[in-house]
Amino acid sequence: MQTSEIVILTGAGVSAESGLSTFRDKGGVWSQVRLEDVATPQAFMRDPVRVHDFYNSRRGRLPTVMPNPAHEAIARLQRGFAGRVTLITQNVDDLHERGGSPDVIHMHGQLNHALCAGCGHQWGWQGSMSTGDVCAACGAQGTVRPDVVWFGEMPYHMDLIAERMAGCDLFVAIGTSGAVYPAAGFVAGAREQGARTIEINLEPSENTALFDEQRLGRASETVPQWVDSVLK
Ligand code: APR
Repeated sequence: MQTSEIVILTGAGVSAESGLSTFRDKGGVWSQVRLEDVATPQAFMRDPVRVHDFYNSRRGRLPTVMPNPAHEAIARLQRGFAGRVTLITQNVDDLHERGGSPDVIHMHGQLNHALCAGCGHQWGWQGSMSTGDVCAACGAQGTVRPDVVWFGEMPYHMDLIAERMAGCDLFVAIGTSGAVYPAAGFVAGAREQGARTIEINLEPSENTALFDEQRLGRASETVPQWVDSVLK
């Protein structure tokens, strides 16, 4: 069957070889800090300074890391594939964009964006953020937060994601453990509507049984190989 609509979902594993830690691997982010302390609305209410420190250090890392061949291969596919490629990422880094991807759906938000918890305004942000910052739109102080979707919050762009998932004939998950919903449920939806499903990961994910094909290995090698096979 000719593939015409590809949906790609990426997770932290696609940025691992660029030097950004994943969350659940050995020594990952959640083995160093409790997500309840830095990645929930309650954490921000309880201790905004600690939450800002956590995201400031992650945002501060971005200029020091570079896209890797996996990011670049995905961008090559987006530019070279005759059909439509939808790139959905759970990552909040900017490596897909810097790797040349023209369109990126950040379902968990972005480190280099700010959100006003008061008026909902979103805008670009570089450098550190603190409780002293004021909203660029409403001028409120103390409501400026990282524009990152926290646990317990609704991911962004879910309507667009549902629309693209409904129309795809190939769904490819790259570098994600399949541990966090709703992203971890996308593969089941793809199968229900008859799409082929491929998992490209260092090791089998939690929902590996739902994928028709596994390509195991390091993304910087496995993703370019897969893209070459699609574009040949
Ligand atoms: N190449 C390919 N895959 C890799 C590599 C690599 N070099 N290194 C690690 N991986 C795989 C791991 O095997 C693991 O399955 O990447 C996956 C990373 O899983 P997680 O750390 O759970 O990251 P992710 O799936 O993106 O987490 C989803 O959870 O904490 C929240 O919001 C956060 O977006 C994140 C979400």
